[in-house]
Amino acid sequence: MSPSAITAELLTHARATVDLPADAAKTLTALHAAATGFFTQDEEVKRAHGSEDFTYGFRPYGRQYSISPDRPDMNESFTYWADNPVTVPHHEAPTVMPFLQALSDYWAVAAAITETVLAELATHYGHQPEAAPPFRDYSYLEINWYHPSDRDLLQDRHEDGHLLTLAVSDGPGLEIETDGRMDPFHVHDNRLLAMPGSLLTAMTGGDVPPLYHQVRNHRLPQRLTVLFLANPPLDRPVPPFVYREGRPVDIAHLARTSGAMFGLPDAPTLPAAHTNG
Ligand SMILES: [Fe+2]
Repeated sequence: MSPSAITAELLTHARATVDLPADAAKTLTALHAAATGFFTQDEEVKRAHGSEDFTYGFRPYGRQYSISPDRPDMNESFTYWADNPVTVPHHEAPTVMPFLQALSDYWAVAAAITETVLAELATHYGHQPEAAPPFRDYSYLEINWYHPSDRDLLQDRHEDGHLLTLAVSDGPGLEIETDGRMDPFHVHDNRLLAMPGSLLTAMTGGDVPPLYHQVRNHRLPQRLTVLFLANPPLDRPVPPFVYREGRPVDIAHLARTSGAMFGLPDAPTLPAAHTNG
């Protein structure tokens, strides 16, 4: 599917299927392998690669939730901000380097799709493509490693507090809301789901509602999810593509505070510095 078709589907159905070409799908397959290598290490090894406030790198089980803190998402997680490995503690250690390389390779794929979609949305609302919010320094990849569980839902129904999420998983479970009903959506290494988040709703003056989703438990021994979460700049005001009533919202302010819904700290207000050129 061409980027234009993705954008058109987002505008008409508030979600889009993204079919990856073979070389792009390969980076995702490699990322799955590298993530499995990382998450199957000892807890102590993994914890050495997480920042104290859980913003960067590894986040242990139970720190993030979808509705209520007493129902944590049943996963541990790894967050890779701004395609910048330096944000991850001990990033040069062999226990994390192959994983960081695979994250960076897949980042290029996900960021290219996001860039085109945001530029096309800007054009749709009568702006130059360059008016699309720059997202690369403010966005992140989140890899979720699910534990076996008896709960019906591994993640409760929620919307994402970002512009756009590109989601893929190595097993069934993802369900999306259509006309008030939750239906399975099949993703795999050649097929992503593009989900608008609440910031895209604000950017489009309500034209594109957020896609509500949840994760059903199919009692898999393990499950790995790869999410690319696109944010607008967090350190300067960001105007919406269009607004229809009242005062225009500052999208950056919405973005900084949206993590609190899920038990996470506010997103960093400054982009992670690129020290590796
Ligand atoms: Fe989500």
